[in-house]
Amino acid sequence: MKKMIEINNLGKQYANGFVALDNITLNVKKGEILALLGPNGAGKTTLISTICGIVNPTSGNVTVGGFDIIKNYRQTRSLIGLVPQELTTDAFETPWNNLTFSRGLFGLPKNPQIVERVLKDLSLWDKKDARIMTLSGGMKRRLLIAKALVHEPQVLFLDEPTAGVDVGLRQDMWRMVDKLRNQGVTIVLTTHYIEEAEAIADRIGVISGGKLLLVEDKQSLMARMGQKQLKVELMESLDSIPAVLSEQGFLLSEDHLSIIYHYDKDAPEVDIAGLLQSVSIAGLGVKDIHTQQSSLEEIFVDLVEDAV
Ligand SMILES: Nc1ncnc2c1ncn2[C@@H]1O[C@H](COP(=O)(O)OP(=O)(O)OP(=O)(O)O)[C@@H](O)[C@H]1O
Ligand SMILES: [Mg+2]
Repeated sequence: MKKMIEINNLGKQYANGFVALDNITLNVKKGEILALLGPNGAGKTTLISTICGIVNPTSGNVTVGGFDIIKNYRQTRSLIGLVPQELTTDAFETPWNNLTFSRGLFGLPKNPQIVERVLKDLSLWDKKDARIMTLSGGMKRRLLIAKALVHEPQVLFLDEPTAGVDVGLRQDMWRMVDKLRNQGVTIVLTTHYIEEAEAIADRIGVISGGKLLLVEDKQSLMARMGQKQLKVELMESLDSIPAVLSEQGFLLSEDHLSIIYHYDKDAPEVDIAGLLQSVSIAGLGVKDIHTQQSSLEEIFVDLVEDAV
């Protein structure tokens, strides 16, 4: 499929010397939905702002729709819709005027039908003539989304679109993303809600300390999520694991007080009884037994911790 965003060796060092992006290389295909996860200060907003031409890169290059974001700024900017993380709206304007004006900024002719459709899609139609300052926080966020869509962009960036919004708006947003996907719009969103990434993304990227730690298909990440573990707590700590048990796939825990066996949750019949029997034959006293399943959240936390 056609590449819509191509990021090559992108670096950003802010004026104070802080390196916010460290050699990021990433492609996003047309019509794909990529979710970027990462802790506070990871560099997610810096990355999005750079692609949108708001922050200047210090190294590397980026193209959107085949156009260079610096040399062909106007072309790339008109392909892009951005919903920023910070709420910024013009308090005294009305949603109707705000959206009409926004299209004008991209040099597009007036189109009341599109303004109407976007306002209705985001459940803001009955507020079209209200002053923006009288809207609630969630409505203002909807308006920012409307504003990003009114010039019919091919690429949409959503920087934490659902931070602090209610369940209703979150689900509206997910539905909207689905609808845009069907229209072939490419979407990059950042989120702190892992279930949000699970719900709507095709691929998941993890950023920490300005580095892209991983980009992976959601399905294959989910398969990794399917890992389960059997943890056998021992009566006494072990110096090393008996060979018979390590041959079966058991590992010794860091504190030497348990042995752990990992298996795939969808694997056909894992012989737990047989495994426990081997533990007993090896002469180990068992204190307790647990099974647990690793979540995407744990995978994410492990990744970010390992990178520090
Ligand atoms: N103008 C600036 N000058 C210096 N440092 C900056 C500037 N803007 C951002 N930073 C730093 O760059 C790092 C990345 O910030 P960024 O806003 O990209 O993080 P983020 O991943 O979006 O975080 P969050 O999840 O909190 O939104 C942070 O350490 C931040 O303090
Ligand atoms: Mg941010």
